[in-house]
Amino acid sequence: MADKPARGLADVVAASTALSDIDGQVGRLSYRGYDINELAGNASFEEIAYLLQRGAAPDDADLAAYEAELAAGRELGALAVADLAGIARRQPPMAALRSLVSLASADDPDSGSNEAAANQRKAARLTAQQPVLIAAYHAARTGRELAPPDPGLDTAANFLLQLSGSKPDPRAAEILDTCLVLHADHTMNASTFAARVCAATLADMHSAVVAAIGTLSGPLHGGANEQVMLGLEAIRKSGGNPLDAVSAQVTARLARGEKIMGFGHRVYKTEDPRAAHLRRMSAELAQGSGDDTYYRMSRRMEEVVFAEKGLYPNVDFYAATVYHYLGIPTDLFTPVFSASRMAGWTAHVIEQHADNRLIRPDSEYIGVSGRAWVPLGVR
Ligand code: ACO
Repeated sequence: MADKPARGLADVVAASTALSDIDGQVGRLSYRGYDINELAGNASFEEIAYLLQRGAAPDDADLAAYEAELAAGRELGALAVADLAGIARRQPPMAALRSLVSLASADDPDSGSNEAAANQRKAARLTAQQPVLIAAYHAARTGRELAPPDPGLDTAANFLLQLSGSKPDPRAAEILDTCLVLHADHTMNASTFAARVCAATLADMHSAVVAAIGTLSGPLHGGANEQVMLGLEAIRKSGGNPLDAVSAQVTARLARGEKIMGFGHRVYKTEDPRAAHLRRMSAELAQGSGDDTYYRMSRRMEEVVFAEKGLYPNVDFYAATVYHYLGIPTDLFTPVFSASRMAGWTAHVIEQHADNRLIRPDSEYIGVSGRAWVPLGVR
């Protein structure tokens, strides 16, 4: 008989990885040994994607070549383009991305290969493509032409350009770039685990990424950032002083045993280091926006949840207001997360394929045993 499983696989070490590491007791996160606090604001998303996917920090020439690969990868595949309008009409954003990434595999020249070099090329293309797919989806559903990418802009600036149709404010692009760095990888989170399970069957990178996108979409994982914003909007709309409304509604929800989105974490027992950077950026953007209500409401919510439950905000909490102040539509928050995490997912597929063994855990049987089957017609 198998042992009792750890509920939700809590504390189970499910894979070995050289990509990222968390110390949940002290609140430390590192990518390939570099502390996230040193990377945020000092490394670009392109450098981090390269670091994760190719194994070491790039030098100038490496980075220029990688950026050229990304620029070439911003061209969408014919099948995805052909189906975009119908998908944008009928599917919400994360479901649309799941479909579009799957369609993109048809036009990827390396789709039939799991070789290391092919995987690296696919990882760069998928990383380049994801923000373009999000902007293309938004353009299609709002009846706009997608602005062409600008080869002189990085991933974050290009995304804001293609999303809005106009060149972004440089500081806004810088802040989004830092968000992409902060979300790029995070050990064995649910979507990355899903990607690795899929890749470990020797399925291809696109399949693994499609599994990851579906897994990220849930409100207990990446979908929480959208829920945070919707919650803040609902509280603000309820009228009265918004800070008092936060205190009253959050206290009441906790008393009913409800969860507050954007709080709590399986691994961090203290503050998630990414939340501190996001809080700072949210404060900066709020100040510049002329209406810092959502930021102040978030601060109040943080105080109430900590006082009542001792829970800290996770990465999704302040990401919500950062994206809001950047002008990103609320239902695209989780897609933006996916654009960043694409760097990590693809790096994990590369790592899994490089040293593979099928991931096939056991289960504890809790059903009835030893029954006699009575054929239909007799029973
Ligand atoms: N609000 C209120 N209570 C909470 C919260 C929360 N956000 N999170 C945990 N708790 C409480 C639970 O009710 C439970 O209390 P109990 O022991 O009295 O029943 C206890 O803390 C443990 O919670 P679990 O859900 O068992 O913890 P788990 O490790 O399984 O879950 C998770 C972690 C899913 C992140 C959880 O904290 C949660 O649901 N948070 C809200 C959703 C969210 O923000 N998700 C994004 C996470 S970050 C990311 O994926 C990018």
